[in-house]
Amino acid sequence: MPAVMHIDRSADTPIYRQIAEQFKEEIASGRMPAGARLPTVRHLAAQLGVTRLTIQNAYAELQSSGWIEATVGRGTFVSSQVQVRPRWASAGPVATPAAVMGDILEMGQAQGMRSMASASPDPALFPADEFWDCLAEQRQAVMAVAGYAPAQGDPGLRVEVADLLRDRGIDVTPDEILITSGVTQGLALLAQSLAQPGDTILAESPTYVGFLHQIRTYGLRPVGVPLDEEGPVLEAVEQQVARQRIRFFYTIPTFQNPTGYCMSPARRAQLLDLAGRYGFYLVEDDLYGCVAYDKPAPATLWSMDQHDQVIYLSSFSKTLMPGLRLGYMIAPRPLREQLVSLRLAADLGSPLLLQRTLAAFLHRGGFRKHLRRILPICRERRDVTLRTLETSMPREVTWTEPQGGLCCWLTFPDSPGLRDIYRRALERGWAFAPGHVFLPQPDETPHLRLCFGSLPPESLRRGIITLGQIVRERMAVDSGEPAPAVDWTPLV
Ligand SMILES: Cc1ncc(COP(=O)(O)O)c(C=O)c1O
Repeated sequence: MPAVMHIDRSADTPIYRQIAEQFKEEIASGRMPAGARLPTVRHLAAQLGVTRLTIQNAYAELQSSGWIEATVGRGTFVSSQVQVRPRWASAGPVATPAAVMGDILEMGQAQGMRSMASASPDPALFPADEFWDCLAEQRQAVMAVAGYAPAQGDPGLRVEVADLLRDRGIDVTPDEILITSGVTQGLALLAQSLAQPGDTILAESPTYVGFLHQIRTYGLRPVGVPLDEEGPVLEAVEQQVARQRIRFFYTIPTFQNPTGYCMSPARRAQLLDLAGRYGFYLVEDDLYGCVAYDKPAPATLWSMDQHDQVIYLSSFSKTLMPGLRLGYMIAPRPLREQLVSLRLAADLGSPLLLQRTLAAFLHRGGFRKHLRRILPICRERRDVTLRTLETSMPREVTWTEPQGGLCCWLTFPDSPGLRDIYRRALERGWAFAPGHVFLPQPDETPHLRLCFGSLPPESLRRGIITLGQIVRERMAVDSGEPAPAVDWTPLV
Protein backbone atom coordinates (compact mmCIF):
# COMPACT_ATOMS: atom_id res chain seq x y z
CA MET A 1 0.00 0.00 0.00
CA PRO A 2 1.12 3.63 -0.33
CA ALA A 3 3.93 4.38 2.13
CA VAL A 4 1.97 7.43 3.25
CA MET A 5 -1.72 7.88 2.67
CA HIS A 6 -2.93 11.43 2.60
CA ILE A 7 -6.40 12.11 3.83
CA ASP A 8 -7.85 15.54 3.57
CA ARG A 9 -10.90 15.79 5.80
CA SER A 10 -11.73 19.27 4.58
CA ALA A 11 -11.88 18.27 0.88
CA ASP A 12 -15.19 17.82 -0.96
CA THR A 13 -14.06 14.37 -2.06
CA PRO A 14 -15.36 11.64 0.26
CA ILE A 15 -12.59 9.95 2.23
CA TYR A 16 -13.27 6.50 0.79
CA ARG A 17 -12.72 7.92 -2.70
CA GLN A 18 -9.49 9.58 -1.64
CA ILE A 19 -8.28 6.22 -0.38
CA ALA A 20 -9.41 4.37 -3.51
CA GLU A 21 -7.65 6.89 -5.76
CA GLN A 22 -4.38 6.49 -3.89
CA PHE A 23 -4.53 2.73 -4.31
CA LYS A 24 -5.15 3.24 -8.04
CA GLU A 25 -2.08 5.46 -8.18
CA GLU A 26 0.03 2.77 -6.55
CA ILE A 27 -1.32 0.04 -8.81
CA ALA A 28 -1.02 2.04 -12.04
CA SER A 29 2.55 3.04 -11.22
CA GLY A 30 3.53 -0.60 -10.66
CA ARG A 31 4.37 -0.04 -7.00
CA MET A 32 1.59 -2.47 -6.13
CA PRO A 33 1.75 -5.21 -8.77
CA ALA A 34 -0.92 -7.77 -9.70
CA GLY A 35 -1.37 -10.17 -6.79
CA ALA A 36 -0.07 -7.74 -4.12
CA ARG A 37 -2.04 -8.02 -0.90
CA LEU A 38 -3.99 -5.05 0.44
CA PRO A 39 -4.12 -4.48 4.19
CA THR A 40 -7.13 -5.84 6.04
CA VAL A 41 -10.06 -3.50 6.51
CA ARG A 42 -9.56 -3.52 10.28
CA HIS A 43 -5.85 -2.77 10.05
CA LEU A 44 -6.14 0.05 7.53
CA ALA A 45 -9.07 1.64 9.35
CA ALA A 46 -7.08 1.70 12.57
CA GLN A 47 -3.97 3.02 10.82
CA LEU A 48 -5.80 5.88 9.08
CA GLY A 49 -8.16 6.64 11.94
CA VAL A 50 -11.27 6.13 9.83
CA THR A 51 -14.23 3.78 10.20
CA ARG A 52 -14.17 0.27 8.79
CA LEU A 53 -17.11 1.22 6.62
CA THR A 54 -14.95 3.86 4.92
CA ILE A 55 -12.34 1.25 4.01
CA GLN A 56 -15.02 -1.21 2.95
CA ASN A 57 -16.47 1.43 0.62
CA ALA A 58 -13.03 2.17 -0.84
CA TYR A 59 -12.40 -1.53 -1.46
CA ALA A 60 -15.89 -1.98 -2.90
CA GLU A 61 -15.25 0.81 -5.39
CA LEU A 62 -11.89 -0.67 -6.38
CA GLN A 63 -13.41 -4.11 -6.71
CA SER A 64 -16.38 -3.02 -8.81
CA SER A 65 -14.07 -1.25 -11.24
CA GLY A 66 -11.78 -4.29 -11.50
CA TRP A 67 -8.68 -2.96 -9.74
CA ILE A 68 -8.72 -5.50 -6.90
CA GLU A 69 -10.27 -8.87 -6.15
CA ALA A 70 -11.24 -10.38 -2.81
CA THR A 71 -11.30 -14.05 -1.90
CA VAL A 72 -13.20 -15.03 1.20
CA GLY A 73 -10.82 -16.35 3.84
CA ARG A 74 -7.68 -15.30 1.93
CA GLY A 75 -7.82 -11.55 1.70
CA THR A 76 -7.86 -8.73 -0.84
CA PHE A 77 -5.37 -8.55 -3.69
CA VAL A 78 -4.51 -6.37 -6.66
CA SER A 79 -6.41 -7.91 -9.59
CA SER A 80 -4.56 -10.48 -11.66
CA GLN A 81 -5.95 -8.62 -14.73
CA VAL A 82 -3.95 -5.50 -13.96
CA GLN A 83 -1.34 -4.88 -16.61
CA VAL A 84 1.07 -2.11 -15.91
CA ARG A 85 2.58 -0.45 -18.95
CA PRO A 86 1.22 -2.77 -21.58
CA ARG A 87 2.74 -2.30 -25.03
CA TRP A 88 0.39 0.14 -26.66
CA ALA A 89 0.79 0.42 -30.42
CA SER A 90 0.30 4.18 -30.11
CA ALA A 91 3.31 4.51 -27.78
CA GLY A 92 5.69 3.65 -30.63
CA PRO A 93 7.67 6.27 -32.55
CA VAL A 94 4.88 6.75 -35.13
CA ALA A 95 1.43 6.87 -33.54
CA THR A 96 -0.91 6.53 -36.52
CA PRO A 97 -4.58 7.50 -36.19
CA ALA A 98 -5.51 3.80 -36.47
CA ALA A 99 -3.10 2.83 -33.68
CA VAL A 100 -4.35 5.65 -31.46
CA MET A 101 -8.00 4.81 -32.08
CA GLY A 102 -7.44 1.10 -31.49
CA ASP A 103 -5.62 1.82 -28.23
CA ILE A 104 -8.23 4.31 -27.03
CA LEU A 105 -10.92 1.67 -27.44
CA GLU A 106 -8.87 -0.92 -25.57
CA MET A 107 -7.70 1.41 -22.83
CA GLY A 108 -11.32 1.87 -21.78
CA GLN A 109 -11.32 -1.81 -20.78
CA ALA A 110 -7.72 -2.19 -19.59
CA GLN A 111 -7.17 -2.69 -15.88
CA GLY A 112 -4.46 -0.58 -14.29
CA MET A 113 -4.96 2.27 -16.72
CA ARG A 114 -6.82 5.51 -16.16
CA SER A 115 -8.04 7.02 -19.35
CA MET A 116 -9.02 10.53 -20.32
CA ALA A 117 -8.40 9.54 -23.92
CA SER A 118 -11.89 8.58 -24.99
CA ALA A 119 -14.69 11.08 -25.53
CA SER A 120 -17.21 8.70 -24.01
CA PRO A 121 -19.84 9.04 -21.32
CA ASP A 122 -19.23 7.40 -17.94
CA PRO A 123 -20.62 3.85 -18.03
CA ALA A 124 -21.47 4.28 -14.34
CA LEU A 125 -24.05 6.91 -15.38
CA PHE A 126 -25.85 4.67 -17.88
CA PRO A 127 -29.54 4.34 -16.92
CA ALA A 128 -29.22 0.57 -16.67
CA ASP A 129 -32.45 -0.24 -14.82
CA GLU A 130 -34.71 1.82 -17.07
CA PHE A 131 -33.00 0.59 -20.21
CA TRP A 132 -33.09 -3.06 -19.13
CA ASP A 133 -36.82 -2.76 -18.37
CA CYS A 134 -37.32 -1.71 -21.98
CA LEU A 135 -35.19 -4.61 -23.17
CA ALA A 136 -37.15 -7.07 -21.02
CA GLU A 137 -40.40 -5.73 -22.51
CA GLN A 138 -39.27 -6.98 -25.93
CA ARG A 139 -39.57 -10.55 -24.69
CA GLN A 140 -43.31 -10.35 -25.01
CA ALA A 141 -42.89 -9.62 -28.71
CA VAL A 142 -40.01 -11.93 -29.37
CA MET A 143 -41.41 -13.08 -32.73
CA ALA A 144 -41.58 -9.49 -33.90
CA VAL A 145 -37.99 -8.63 -33.03
CA ALA A 146 -36.45 -11.84 -34.27
CA GLY A 147 -36.26 -10.81 -37.92
CA TYR A 148 -34.49 -8.17 -39.96
CA ALA A 149 -35.42 -4.51 -39.62
CA PRO A 150 -36.11 -2.27 -42.61
CA ALA A 151 -32.74 -0.96 -43.87
CA GLN A 152 -33.87 2.62 -43.25
CA GLY A 153 -34.48 1.75 -39.60
CA ASP A 154 -37.38 0.58 -37.44
CA PRO A 155 -40.36 2.90 -38.12
CA GLY A 156 -41.12 3.12 -34.37
CA LEU A 157 -37.59 4.26 -33.60
CA ARG A 158 -37.75 6.82 -36.41
CA VAL A 159 -40.94 8.26 -34.88
CA GLU A 160 -39.16 8.68 -31.55
CA VAL A 161 -36.01 10.15 -33.11
CA ALA A 162 -38.14 12.65 -35.07
CA ASP A 163 -39.69 13.70 -31.76
CA LEU A 164 -36.28 14.03 -30.09
CA LEU A 165 -34.91 16.08 -32.97
CA ARG A 166 -37.43 18.83 -32.19
CA ASP A 167 -35.24 19.61 -29.15
CA ARG A 168 -32.53 20.55 -31.67
CA GLY A 169 -34.93 22.70 -33.69
CA ILE A 170 -35.21 20.05 -36.43
CA ASP A 171 -38.65 19.39 -37.81
CA VAL A 172 -38.71 16.24 -39.95
CA THR A 173 -41.05 13.32 -40.53
CA PRO A 174 -39.93 9.79 -39.59
CA ASP A 175 -39.66 9.06 -43.32
CA GLU A 176 -36.83 11.55 -43.65
CA ILE A 177 -34.68 9.79 -41.06
CA LEU A 178 -32.18 7.03 -41.73
CA ILE A 179 -31.07 4.96 -38.73
CA THR A 180 -27.35 4.12 -38.88
CA SER A 181 -24.83 2.16 -36.91
CA GLY A 182 -23.56 5.33 -35.23
CA VAL A 183 -22.40 8.53 -36.89
CA THR A 184 -19.44 6.50 -38.12
CA GLN A 185 -21.57 4.50 -40.53
CA GLY A 186 -23.42 7.60 -41.72
CA LEU A 187 -20.08 9.20 -42.59
CA ALA A 188 -18.95 6.05 -44.38
CA LEU A 189 -22.13 6.03 -46.49
CA LEU A 190 -21.55 9.68 -47.37
CA ALA A 191 -17.93 9.08 -48.31
CA GLN A 192 -19.09 6.32 -50.66
CA SER A 193 -21.96 8.24 -52.20
CA LEU A 194 -20.50 11.72 -52.55
CA ALA A 195 -16.86 11.11 -53.41
CA GLN A 196 -14.43 9.02 -55.44
CA PRO A 197 -10.88 8.04 -54.45
CA GLY A 198 -8.58 11.01 -54.88
CA ASP A 199 -11.29 13.60 -54.14
CA THR A 200 -10.77 16.36 -51.60
CA ILE A 201 -12.84 16.69 -48.43
CA LEU A 202 -12.68 19.83 -46.34
CA ALA A 203 -12.60 19.50 -42.55
CA GLU A 204 -11.84 21.62 -39.54
CA SER A 205 -8.31 21.48 -38.19
CA PRO A 206 -8.22 19.86 -35.68
CA THR A 207 -11.11 17.47 -36.26
CA TYR A 208 -12.39 14.08 -35.16
CA VAL A 209 -9.64 11.49 -35.69
CA GLY A 210 -12.10 8.77 -36.68
CA PHE A 211 -13.31 10.84 -39.60
CA LEU A 212 -9.79 11.45 -40.86
CA HIS A 213 -8.96 7.79 -40.57
CA GLN A 214 -12.17 6.82 -42.31
CA ILE A 215 -11.90 9.05 -45.35
CA ARG A 216 -8.24 8.21 -45.86
CA THR A 217 -9.26 4.55 -45.90
CA TYR A 218 -11.62 5.40 -48.77
CA GLY A 219 -8.76 7.03 -50.65
CA LEU A 220 -10.08 10.57 -50.06
CA ARG A 221 -7.84 13.51 -49.26
CA PRO A 222 -8.66 15.58 -46.16
CA VAL A 223 -7.73 19.26 -46.24
CA GLY A 224 -7.95 21.23 -43.00
CA VAL A 225 -9.12 24.77 -42.35
CA PRO A 226 -8.11 26.47 -39.11
CA LEU A 227 -10.60 27.07 -36.31
CA ASP A 228 -11.02 29.97 -33.97
CA GLU A 229 -13.38 30.16 -31.01
CA GLU A 230 -16.29 31.08 -33.29
CA GLY A 231 -15.76 28.21 -35.70
CA PRO A 232 -13.91 27.59 -38.97
CA VAL A 233 -12.07 30.61 -40.34
CA LEU A 234 -14.19 31.51 -43.35
CA GLU A 235 -11.43 33.15 -45.37
CA ALA A 236 -9.56 29.83 -45.25
CA VAL A 237 -12.70 27.93 -46.29
CA GLU A 238 -13.25 30.29 -49.21
CA GLN A 239 -9.63 30.06 -50.29
CA GLN A 240 -9.90 26.27 -50.47
CA VAL A 241 -13.26 26.05 -52.21
CA ALA A 242 -12.27 28.71 -54.74
CA ARG A 243 -9.11 26.80 -55.58
CA GLN A 244 -10.48 23.27 -55.99
CA ARG A 245 -13.65 21.23 -56.16
CA ILE A 246 -14.40 19.82 -52.73
CA ARG A 247 -16.96 17.06 -52.25
CA PHE A 248 -18.19 18.26 -48.88
CA PHE A 249 -17.16 20.14 -45.77
CA TYR A 250 -17.30 17.98 -42.64
CA THR A 251 -18.01 20.16 -39.61
CA ILE A 252 -18.77 19.57 -35.92
CA PRO A 253 -20.28 22.99 -35.20
CA THR A 254 -21.52 22.31 -31.69
CA PHE A 255 -19.01 21.47 -28.93
CA GLN A 256 -16.47 20.27 -31.41
CA ASN A 257 -14.22 17.27 -30.96
CA PRO A 258 -11.41 17.81 -29.99
CA THR A 259 -11.59 21.54 -29.10
CA GLY A 260 -15.04 21.85 -27.52
CA TYR A 261 -15.58 25.03 -29.58
CA CYS A 262 -19.11 26.00 -30.49
CA MET A 263 -19.64 27.80 -33.81
CA SER A 264 -21.35 31.17 -33.33
CA PRO A 265 -24.77 31.75 -34.97
CA ALA A 266 -23.26 34.44 -37.22
CA ARG A 267 -20.50 32.10 -38.41
CA ARG A 268 -23.11 29.41 -39.09
CA ALA A 269 -25.09 31.79 -41.29
CA GLN A 270 -21.95 32.89 -43.16
CA LEU A 271 -20.85 29.31 -43.70
CA LEU A 272 -24.25 28.40 -45.13
CA ASP A 273 -24.00 31.39 -47.43
CA LEU A 274 -20.56 30.28 -48.60
CA ALA A 275 -21.79 26.72 -49.21
CA GLY A 276 -24.63 28.15 -51.32
CA ARG A 277 -22.32 30.36 -53.36
CA TYR A 278 -19.77 27.66 -54.11
CA GLY A 279 -22.22 24.74 -54.21
CA PHE A 280 -20.91 22.21 -51.71
CA TYR A 281 -22.60 20.12 -49.05
CA LEU A 282 -22.09 20.80 -45.35
CA VAL A 283 -21.98 17.56 -43.37
CA GLU A 284 -23.04 18.53 -39.85
CA ASP A 285 -21.94 16.12 -37.09
CA ASP A 286 -24.12 17.09 -34.12
CA LEU A 287 -23.04 14.31 -31.80
CA TYR A 288 -22.47 16.64 -28.84
CA GLY A 289 -25.35 19.00 -29.61
CA CYS A 290 -27.44 18.12 -26.56
CA VAL A 291 -24.48 18.10 -24.14
CA ALA A 292 -24.71 21.83 -23.34
CA TYR A 293 -23.64 23.02 -19.88
CA ASP A 294 -23.95 26.77 -19.69
CA LYS A 295 -26.73 27.71 -22.09
CA PRO A 296 -28.71 25.95 -24.81
CA ALA A 297 -26.69 25.16 -27.93
CA PRO A 298 -27.25 27.45 -30.94
CA ALA A 299 -29.57 26.41 -33.77
CA THR A 300 -28.21 23.62 -35.94
CA LEU A 301 -26.93 24.33 -39.44
CA TRP A 302 -29.65 21.96 -40.65
CA SER A 303 -32.43 24.07 -39.15
CA MET A 304 -30.96 27.27 -40.67
CA ASP A 305 -30.54 25.74 -44.11
CA GLN A 306 -32.98 26.87 -46.82
CA HIS A 307 -31.46 25.10 -49.82
CA ASP A 308 -30.92 21.40 -48.94
CA GLN A 309 -27.20 21.99 -48.46
CA VAL A 310 -26.86 20.32 -45.06
CA ILE A 311 -26.64 16.62 -44.21
CA TYR A 312 -27.19 16.07 -40.51
CA LEU A 313 -25.83 13.23 -38.34
CA SER A 314 -25.98 12.32 -34.67
CA SER A 315 -26.16 9.28 -32.38
CA PHE A 316 -26.63 8.10 -28.81
CA SER A 317 -22.92 7.38 -28.30
CA LYS A 318 -22.09 10.43 -26.20
CA THR A 319 -25.21 10.48 -24.08
CA LEU A 320 -26.20 6.85 -23.53
CA MET A 321 -23.43 4.50 -24.60
CA PRO A 322 -21.25 4.08 -27.69
CA GLY A 323 -21.77 0.30 -27.58
CA LEU A 324 -25.39 0.70 -28.70
CA ARG A 325 -24.13 1.62 -32.18
CA LEU A 326 -27.34 3.46 -33.00
CA GLY A 327 -27.33 6.80 -34.77
CA TYR A 328 -29.40 8.69 -37.32
CA MET A 329 -28.99 10.95 -40.29
CA ILE A 330 -31.06 13.28 -42.44
CA ALA A 331 -30.18 13.88 -46.06
CA PRO A 332 -31.98 15.51 -48.99
CA ARG A 333 -34.31 13.09 -50.77
CA PRO A 334 -32.45 11.67 -53.80
CA LEU A 335 -29.33 11.27 -51.71
CA ARG A 336 -31.33 9.57 -48.92
CA GLU A 337 -32.52 6.89 -51.32
CA GLN A 338 -28.98 6.22 -52.41
CA LEU A 339 -27.84 6.07 -48.78
CA VAL A 340 -30.53 3.52 -47.90
CA SER A 341 -29.43 1.38 -50.82
CA LEU A 342 -25.78 1.60 -49.71
CA ARG A 343 -26.85 0.74 -46.17
CA LEU A 344 -28.63 -2.32 -47.47
CA ALA A 345 -25.46 -3.35 -49.24
CA ALA A 346 -23.32 -2.72 -46.16
CA ASP A 347 -25.09 -4.79 -43.48
CA LEU A 348 -28.87 -4.88 -44.16
CA GLY A 349 -29.65 -2.71 -41.13
CA SER A 350 -29.26 -2.27 -37.36
CA PRO A 351 -30.37 -4.95 -34.88
CA LEU A 352 -34.12 -4.79 -34.46
CA LEU A 353 -34.02 -5.84 -30.81
CA LEU A 354 -31.88 -2.84 -29.89
CA GLN A 355 -33.83 -0.45 -32.09
CA ARG A 356 -37.12 -1.46 -30.44
CA THR A 357 -35.57 -1.27 -26.97
CA LEU A 358 -34.25 2.22 -27.65
CA ALA A 359 -37.59 3.27 -29.14
CA ALA A 360 -39.37 2.12 -25.95
CA PHE A 361 -36.82 3.98 -23.80
CA LEU A 362 -37.30 7.18 -25.80
CA HIS A 363 -41.08 6.76 -25.79
CA ARG A 364 -41.13 6.61 -21.98
CA GLY A 365 -39.18 9.85 -21.77
CA GLY A 366 -36.15 7.96 -20.45
CA PHE A 367 -33.67 9.84 -22.61
CA ARG A 368 -34.68 13.37 -21.63
CA LYS A 369 -34.77 12.33 -17.97
CA HIS A 370 -31.32 10.80 -18.32
CA LEU A 371 -29.95 14.00 -19.88
CA ARG A 372 -31.38 16.10 -17.05
CA ARG A 373 -29.58 13.82 -14.60
CA ILE A 374 -26.17 13.64 -16.30
CA LEU A 375 -25.69 17.20 -17.53
CA PRO A 376 -25.02 18.69 -14.07
CA ILE A 377 -22.62 15.81 -13.34
CA CYS A 378 -20.70 16.38 -16.57
CA ARG A 379 -20.74 20.13 -15.99
CA GLU A 380 -19.07 19.60 -12.62
CA ARG A 381 -16.44 17.42 -14.28
CA ARG A 382 -15.81 20.15 -16.85
CA ASP A 383 -15.46 22.69 -14.04
CA VAL A 384 -13.05 20.50 -12.05
CA THR A 385 -11.00 19.96 -15.20
CA LEU A 386 -10.68 23.68 -15.92
CA ARG A 387 -9.96 24.58 -12.29
CA THR A 388 -7.28 21.90 -11.97
CA LEU A 389 -5.65 22.90 -15.26
CA GLU A 390 -5.52 26.45 -13.94
CA THR A 391 -3.71 25.42 -10.76
CA SER A 392 -1.44 22.73 -12.12
CA MET A 393 -0.20 23.73 -15.60
CA PRO A 394 2.75 26.05 -16.25
CA ARG A 395 1.62 29.33 -17.78
CA GLU A 396 3.06 28.41 -21.20
CA VAL A 397 0.34 25.77 -21.62
CA THR A 398 -3.05 26.82 -23.03
CA TRP A 399 -6.37 25.03 -23.30
CA THR A 400 -9.88 25.54 -24.59
CA GLU A 401 -12.83 26.17 -22.26
CA PRO A 402 -15.71 24.10 -23.62
CA GLN A 403 -19.29 25.12 -22.89
CA GLY A 404 -20.47 21.64 -23.76
CA GLY A 405 -19.33 18.27 -25.04
CA LEU A 406 -16.69 16.07 -23.48
CA CYS A 407 -13.37 17.39 -24.83
CA CYS A 408 -10.76 19.95 -23.96
CA TRP A 409 -7.78 20.68 -26.24
CA LEU A 410 -4.40 21.44 -24.71
CA THR A 411 -1.58 23.19 -26.55
CA PHE A 412 1.98 22.98 -25.21
CA PRO A 413 4.97 25.10 -26.07
CA ASP A 414 6.96 23.66 -28.96
CA SER A 415 9.68 22.28 -26.78
CA PRO A 416 11.33 18.98 -27.85
CA GLY A 417 10.74 17.33 -24.47
CA LEU A 418 7.01 17.88 -24.80
CA ARG A 419 6.67 16.20 -28.18
CA ASP A 420 6.35 12.81 -26.52
CA ILE A 421 4.14 14.04 -23.67
CA TYR A 422 1.54 11.43 -24.62
CA ARG A 423 4.01 8.57 -24.08
CA ARG A 424 5.32 10.11 -20.84
CA ALA A 425 1.80 10.20 -19.42
CA LEU A 426 1.19 6.60 -20.50
CA GLU A 427 4.29 5.58 -18.54
CA ARG A 428 2.61 6.99 -15.45
CA GLY A 429 -0.58 5.04 -16.12
CA TRP A 430 -2.59 7.95 -17.57
CA ALA A 431 -3.96 8.00 -21.09
CA PHE A 432 -4.79 11.17 -23.02
CA ALA A 433 -5.19 11.36 -26.78
CA PRO A 434 -2.11 12.58 -28.69
CA GLY A 435 -2.97 15.74 -30.61
CA HIS A 436 -1.30 15.19 -34.00
CA VAL A 437 -3.81 12.53 -35.09
CA PHE A 438 -6.59 15.15 -35.04
CA LEU A 439 -4.84 17.32 -37.61
CA PRO A 440 -5.54 16.85 -41.32
CA GLN A 441 -1.98 18.15 -41.90
CA PRO A 442 0.03 17.37 -38.73
CA ASP A 443 2.58 19.90 -37.47
CA GLU A 444 5.15 19.91 -34.69
CA THR A 445 3.19 21.76 -31.99
CA PRO A 446 2.46 19.34 -29.15
CA HIS A 447 -1.22 18.97 -28.28
CA LEU A 448 -3.27 16.60 -26.18
CA ARG A 449 -7.00 16.02 -26.12
CA LEU A 450 -8.30 15.57 -22.63
CA CYS A 451 -11.78 14.06 -22.17
CA PHE A 452 -13.50 14.68 -18.89
CA GLY A 453 -16.77 12.76 -19.27
CA SER A 454 -15.87 9.29 -18.18
CA LEU A 455 -14.03 9.75 -14.87
CA PRO A 456 -15.20 11.08 -11.51
CA PRO A 457 -13.85 14.48 -10.38
CA GLU A 458 -11.19 13.13 -8.03
CA SER A 459 -9.67 10.96 -10.77
CA LEU A 460 -9.69 13.91 -13.17
CA ARG A 461 -7.93 16.05 -10.59
CA ARG A 462 -5.27 13.46 -9.97
CA GLY A 463 -4.65 12.85 -13.67
CA ILE A 464 -4.34 16.54 -14.50
CA ILE A 465 -2.03 17.16 -11.54
CA THR A 466 0.18 14.29 -12.72
CA LEU A 467 0.15 15.69 -16.27
CA GLY A 468 1.16 19.10 -14.91
CA GLN A 469 4.08 17.48 -13.08
CA ILE A 470 5.23 15.71 -16.22
CA VAL A 471 5.04 18.94 -18.23
CA ARG A 472 7.15 20.80 -15.66
CA GLU A 473 9.72 18.00 -15.54
CA ARG A 474 10.02 17.94 -19.33
CA MET A 475 10.25 21.72 -19.61
CA ALA A 476 12.95 21.75 -16.93
CA VAL A 477 14.94 19.12 -18.84
CA ASP A 478 14.65 21.17 -22.03
CA SER A 479 15.84 24.33 -20.33
CA GLY A 480 18.75 22.51 -18.67
CA GLU A 481 17.44 23.05 -15.14
CA PRO A 482 17.35 20.17 -12.68
CA ALA A 483 14.00 18.41 -12.98
CA PRO A 484 11.62 19.24 -10.12
CA ALA A 485 11.31 16.40 -7.64
CA VAL A 486 8.33 14.18 -8.41
CA ASP A 487 5.80 14.89 -5.77
CA TRP A 488 2.95 12.42 -5.55
CA THR A 489 0.64 15.23 -4.62
CA PRO A 490 -2.06 14.35 -2.13
CA LEU A 491 -5.61 14.84 -3.26
CA VAL A 492 -6.68 18.45 -3.14
C1 LIG B 1 -17.34 14.10 -33.61
C2 LIG B 1 -17.53 12.62 -33.57
N1 LIG B 1 -18.21 12.03 -34.56
C3 LIG B 1 -18.42 10.68 -34.56
C4 LIG B 1 -17.95 9.89 -33.53
C5 LIG B 1 -18.28 8.43 -33.55
O1 LIG B 1 -19.63 8.34 -33.23
P1 LIG B 1 -20.50 7.02 -33.25
O2 LIG B 1 -20.18 6.25 -32.02
O3 LIG B 1 -21.90 7.52 -33.27
O4 LIG B 1 -20.15 6.26 -34.48
C6 LIG B 1 -17.24 10.47 -32.48
C7 LIG B 1 -16.71 9.66 -31.38
O5 LIG B 1 -15.91 10.08 -30.58
C8 LIG B 1 -17.04 11.87 -32.49
O6 LIG B 1 -16.41 12.50 -31.50
